[in-house]
Formats: sequence, C-alpha cells, structure tokens
Amino acid sequence: MEIIITKNYEEMSKRAASIVFSQVALNRKSVLGLPTGSTPLGLYKYLIEAHKKGYIDFSEVKTFNLDEYFRLDRSDPQSYYYFMMENLVNHINIDTKNVDIPNCMLKDIEKECEDYEERIKAAGGIDLQIIGIGNNGHIGFNEPGEVFSKKTHLVDLKQDTIEANARFFSSIEEVPTQAVTMGIQTIMQSKRLLLIASGLAKAEAIYKIVKGEI
Ligand code: F6R
Repeated sequence: MEIIITKNYEEMSKRAASIVFSQVALNRKSVLGLPTGSTPLGLYKYLIEAHKKGYIDFSEVKTFNLDEYFRLDRSDPQSYYYFMMENLVNHINIDTKNVDIPNCMLKDIEKECEDYEERIKAAGGIDLQIIGIGNNGHIGFNEPGEVFSKKTHLVDLKQDTIEANARFFSSIEEVPTQAVTMGIQTIMQSKRLLLIASGLAKAEAIYKIVKGEI
C-alpha cells in the first residue's frame, strides 16, 4: 500500500488523474472501476480536460461503477447512471456500450448482480478501481464490518447513510432505502485500487484504515 498525501483537494484530484492517465496510456483497453460522490468530481474534471487537449483516449476503455440506487430510473438526476453521464461520460470519447452500471430497474435484481460479476470477469477484471470512502468508513454501499466474501449484492441502506445522502434529494423520504453495490470481494479482486479521500470529516476513517485493525 502506498499513501500519497497532497496539499489540498485540487492536488489530490490531479494526482489521481495522473494515475488514471498512466493506466490508460499503458493499456488503452483498460478496465476502470469508478465511484460517484463529491470526491471524484475534481478527478473527472481533470480527465475531461486532458481528453479535450488530446492527451487521453477513452475509445477502448471499459468502466464499471461501484454502485447504484435500487429502483431509481436512469433518467432520474439522482441516479448514479445520470451522475456518470453528466460528470464524465458525456464529455469524453468513451463508447457508452463500454460503460457498465448495475441496472437496478431490472425485475430480477439477483440475476443482475450475478450478471454484473460475470460482465466484470468477461472484461478481464478491473485494472484500476477508484473508490471514495464515507465518513463512517463505508466503501461503495458496504458498511464497516461487512464480510470480505461478498460480491455484487443488494443492500438495505443504514439510516445514517440515508441521512448523509439526503443532501442530494429534496427530502429524506425520496432517498432510496436500498442499493446495489459491488461487494468487498469484487473490489479487492481489482488489480490496483486507488482510494481518494479529502477533508477533515474523512480523517478518522482514513486513520482507522491505515493504522487500525482490518
Ligand atoms: C459512491 C460510493 C460512496 C462514496 C462515499 C463518499 O459511488 O460508493 O461510497 O464514495 O459515500 O462520498 P463523497 O465522495 O460524496 O464524500
């Protein structure tokens, strides 16, 4: 594990973007795992800028997202699908066929979870998985203490996660109470993992990751 400490959020975002550039430069068919949330917005901004300048080509890149709200239509601005389109996909030359996000509108969600794992496997696995972290240490929608053996699955969201995510919705009642998330096993199977975190509210979670027990 390498720990990179940067001066501020901008530096963190640039540094993260440089790690993504080098991944895609070395292998233009890279498979990336991507998060939503406020943390990766700077990273996505730098990736878009670099693409516009012609420094990075996403035409053969594949992406898999960490998670998605259950039963939130993809056209809903709060869906993670919509987030990815708005904040990255629509601004770069990635083929939308290669952008994979759990489809939480499918009737048989267990099958979609299994199929998602299969699609990741069929793509050759994730070369570089980028993740954020919640203030309480959650990763994707895996709460702290989650078993390591879990693959992509449907989760009931904890009340504090619902409350934390309510800031994006007009009322707390609108926040979905379930989501599909890659499991810790799915995440740990990635060839490389880049966790990005910024701000005082994340300090305790990062301290526990670095110094605490597994
Ligand atoms: C997002 C995700 C979440 C976030 C976490 C941090 O796809 O899986 O685990 O990474 O909630 O969110 P921000 O970046 O908004 O602090």
